[in-house]
Amino acid sequence: MQQLSVRHLLGIKNINQNDIQLIFETADTFKEVLNRPIKKVPSLRDVTIANVFFENSTRTRLSFELAQKRLSADVINFSSSSSSVKKGETLLDTVNNILAMKVDMIVMRHSSPGAPHFLARHVKANIVNAGDGTHEHPTQALLDSFSIREKFGEVRGKKVAIIGDILHSRVALSNIFALQKQGAEVMVCGPVTLLPRYINELGVKVELDVRKALQWCDVANVLRIQLERQQIKYFPSLREYSLYYGINKAMLDSLDKEILLMHPGPINRGVELTSDAADSHHSVILNQVENGVAIRMAVLYLLAQATS
Ligand code: CP
Repeated sequence: MQQLSVRHLLGIKNINQNDIQLIFETADTFKEVLNRPIKKVPSLRDVTIANVFFENSTRTRLSFELAQKRLSADVINFSSSSSSVKKGETLLDTVNNILAMKVDMIVMRHSSPGAPHFLARHVKANIVNAGDGTHEHPTQALLDSFSIREKFGEVRGKKVAIIGDILHSRVALSNIFALQKQGAEVMVCGPVTLLPRYINELGVKVELDVRKALQWCDVANVLRIQLERQQIKYFPSLREYSLYYGINKAMLDSLDKEILLMHPGPINRGVELTSDAADSHHSVILNQVENGVAIRMAVLYLLAQATS
């Protein structure tokens, strides 16, 4: 049986093209399972997984939990807002206490970049990064590429524009790594204040004009403005951002080709996307969410087999 080259999924930076291919092929099988009347397999029957979330989430948390249940794993959920973290318990103490209950795998979201890498150095369980601050969100990037592959047959050679708040986005960084490892061309587009200073070191095209980015790309992956991570003002107002960087259906319809419109969610309707764009035939936003379950089933299943 083929195995991943890693025993934790900490970021796309840490995995290779063969790992991505293996995850996609495994997800193809699980997607077929998810379309059966009985959407469950016994693959992880003896595995216990804790979802440890120190930050809010709708899609990622529910998608991981559903993936675990579809694989017949035992699941426990931890939310820092209702936990003894509020009484001063450290991350490592919290996780070691969870692991003492015979848990095999930790899926963690944390606001601090590198928190899952820290855990992986200190505990024996498999660690899955469900988003670490502004750093990486590997399963989001995998489901995004899987959705592109599903629509176009392959990711190689596709032109993908990532549009919005690149500076604060873990989705952007994981997507850049994932797309480049698969041979796609990547452009980032946004106000210059929302582009990281190191952007030229990432080997991506940079475009400040959203209309030019839309003309260039096959796929537009639109990101929200992460106000919760912004300590200073990066643009005058949301209204002004929307005026210069917001995407509406008329802009998509006026292109001389069909492009895929993607968004990792949550959408701020009326800011980065109008409702008529988000809900249009251009959009694959809910396909991304659907594919997230199959991708996370594949990641959990493969990590449970990983020995390296
Ligand atoms: N895309 C994403 O990570 O969404 P949530 O924050 O709702 O999990």
